[in-house]
Amino acid sequence: MKIGILGAGHIGRALARLLAEAGHEVGISNSKDPDTLRELAHQLGHGVKAFNREDAARFGELVIETVPFGKYATLPAVQMEGKIVIDTANYYPERDGQIDLGELSQSAFIAHHLPKARVVKAFNTIHSAHLESQGDTGKPLDERRAIFIAGDDQEAKAVVTRLIEEIGFAAVDTGSLEDSKVQQPGTPIYGPDLTAKQAREEVQKLRGR
Ligand SMILES: NC(=O)c1ccc[n+]([C@@H]2O[C@H](COP(=O)([O-])OP(=O)(O)OC[C@H]3O[C@@H](n4cnc5c(N)ncnc54)[C@H](OP(=O)(O)O)[C@@H]3O)[C@@H](O)[C@H]2O)c1
Repeated sequence: MKIGILGAGHIGRALARLLAEAGHEVGISNSKDPDTLRELAHQLGHGVKAFNREDAARFGELVIETVPFGKYATLPAVQMEGKIVIDTANYYPERDGQIDLGELSQSAFIAHHLPKARVVKAFNTIHSAHLESQGDTGKPLDERRAIFIAGDDQEAKAVVTRLIEEIGFAAVDTGSLEDSKVQQPGTPIYGPDLTAKQAREEVQKLRGR
């Protein structure tokens, strides 16, 4: 499928490479002119294209937003309408500044800002270096590293689950966008290298609290 990536940093680059290698058409963007990404796109290979952020969002049937959360207001919301949007972001006030989430999880806040997008939180609990190296399509799903996902749109979560499996991981569902609070920084499942089987057990424990 056509995948537009907003953000060409640690996670944006890793996902661009993995998804392009898995056979998807990938367009990547940063906050600047696409000329600043031509060299990177060339290095990534597999036909990865360099776009500005609006064109990357327009290009993608699915859009990955992987920019520092503090930059959320610069996301091209209009071009993301109706699309499945993967939100990889984490809120770190020392990096992102004070943002009043009210009672919302970070991803529910993003969904509020992108009202017609079908937001799925994913890839926020894994370090970019591990994302680059730990996928293994040769392993059975239960033994693969878990990527936690959350969202309110079941069909969108199913699409994201397939993408995660194509790049050698296994999706473990933590629930709704509001439930994604259990996979935010500082929680027991943020960071550790858990197989899908272990990850489901951890999520059960968190639900039981
Ligand atoms: N690093 C990790 O291991 C990791 C793991 C899990 C989750 N995360 C989360 O994922 C998000 C991205 O992290 P990162 O480490 O990949 O960030 P990063 O290395 O700092 O890169 C951020 C990228 O976002 C671009 N950007 C900013 N605003 C943009 C916009 N409106 N449209 C398109 N691109 C835009 C920046 O472009 P310019 O260079 O032009 O400014 C840069 O390419 C963060 O919320 C982070 O907390 C990170």
